[in-house]
Amino acid sequence: MDGMTKRGFGTRLTHLGRPPVRSHGFVNPPVHRGSTVLQPSVAARLETAKRRLERVMTYGTQGGPTHHALEDLVAEIEGGTHCTITGTGLAAVAVPLLAFLKAGDRCLMPDSAYGPTRSLAEGLMTGWGIETTFYDPTITAAGLEAIWTPNTRVLYLESPGSHTFEVQDVPALAAVARARSAVSMIDNTWGIHHFQPFAKGCDVSIQALTKYVGGHSDILLGSVTVNSAEHHALVRGAASAMGHYASPDDCWLALRGARTMAVRLKHQEAAALRVARWLQTRPEVARVLHPALPEDPGHAVWKRDFTGACSLFGVLFRPQYTEAQIFDVVDNLKLFGIGASWGGYESLALPTNAAVVRRVMPPLPGQAMRLHIGLEDVDDLIADLDQALARLHR
Ligand SMILES: Cc1ncc(COP(=O)(O)O)c(C=O)c1O
Repeated sequence: MDGMTKRGFGTRLTHLGRPPVRSHGFVNPPVHRGSTVLQPSVAARLETAKRRLERVMTYGTQGGPTHHALEDLVAEIEGGTHCTITGTGLAAVAVPLLAFLKAGDRCLMPDSAYGPTRSLAEGLMTGWGIETTFYDPTITAAGLEAIWTPNTRVLYLESPGSHTFEVQDVPALAAVARARSAVSMIDNTWGIHHFQPFAKGCDVSIQALTKYVGGHSDILLGSVTVNSAEHHALVRGAASAMGHYASPDDCWLALRGARTMAVRLKHQEAAALRVARWLQTRPEVARVLHPALPEDPGHAVWKRDFTGACSLFGVLFRPQYTEAQIFDVVDNLKLFGIGASWGGYESLALPTNAAVVRRVMPPLPGQAMRLHIGLEDVDDLIADLDQALARLHR
């Protein structure tokens, strides 16, 4: 939509991806379901197949108007030119990795990458002859240059890191990759619109739309956004070759979720910071892992590169507590669900030590817990945490 890039986040989320002409005047675009796309002639069918990247409808797997509406919205909020929707966030990780890497190539991945991303690199990618080296996410540009090899083709980034929330110096690291004609890709799910990946030098941005865009813990979706037609052809080609597809019903739900995302994010960011600050005052807590807190080691880089935070952060307990004690705390929370997929309207808690697999970084010096703050009243959440933490003193 003309001039939208200059508008505020809430305005863009309200107006993008709903062209009135496709909706007969109704506010929301309809769900277009379909596999076969009928063509007026055999010649027309052959012609449309050549123009798939121009969104000429050829077959359901190439996506239809509901996918395109969501792709347009996501590309715009990420600041890129083209977006491909995938069936899950993890598929959005796998598609660009496999689009840009081949046997003999090397990928550099932060040690704090989302677990299944690490598993993909250590499993299937290794089997296909693609090497992955894990690096400390807080590595400097000079450090990255020191471990660079001529076959390094992809620099993978995720900032902040899963479970441990280290902030990466993305502009400096992406510049190293660009200078070597390699591709940099970032899992930008935590940063969402608070981090503009292309303005910071990345080539590919990955989102698990399952999280805040869906917003209601009832869909799985991902997106791969790029900033050039050339990269789009590669990503779309890989997704298509592997048969990736997302349900248009889920795309429709994601569009619906996106309409309220600005308000939810703002509320959840403030609520999470209040809970985080309260946790900092607790004697059981060694450190709160949240880059928006001035005491966090990643705060300066976060402040420089992000315009805000989401509502997911970590809590590191003092070393005297056992895993069983932390399980007991989490089991006794009344308002926090015990579950993995964050970004919904409901708060979640999860003990995370077992999930923190690290190859190059030291293990955590105590038990940890990840919190996702939802839309409940903050005072109620704090009271709930208070009664559960009291169990550590029994
Ligand atoms: C940082 C990050 N990236 C990607 C994903 C994968 O998303 P999905 O659950 O949609 O596969 C997750 C899921 O938790 C995540 O936390």
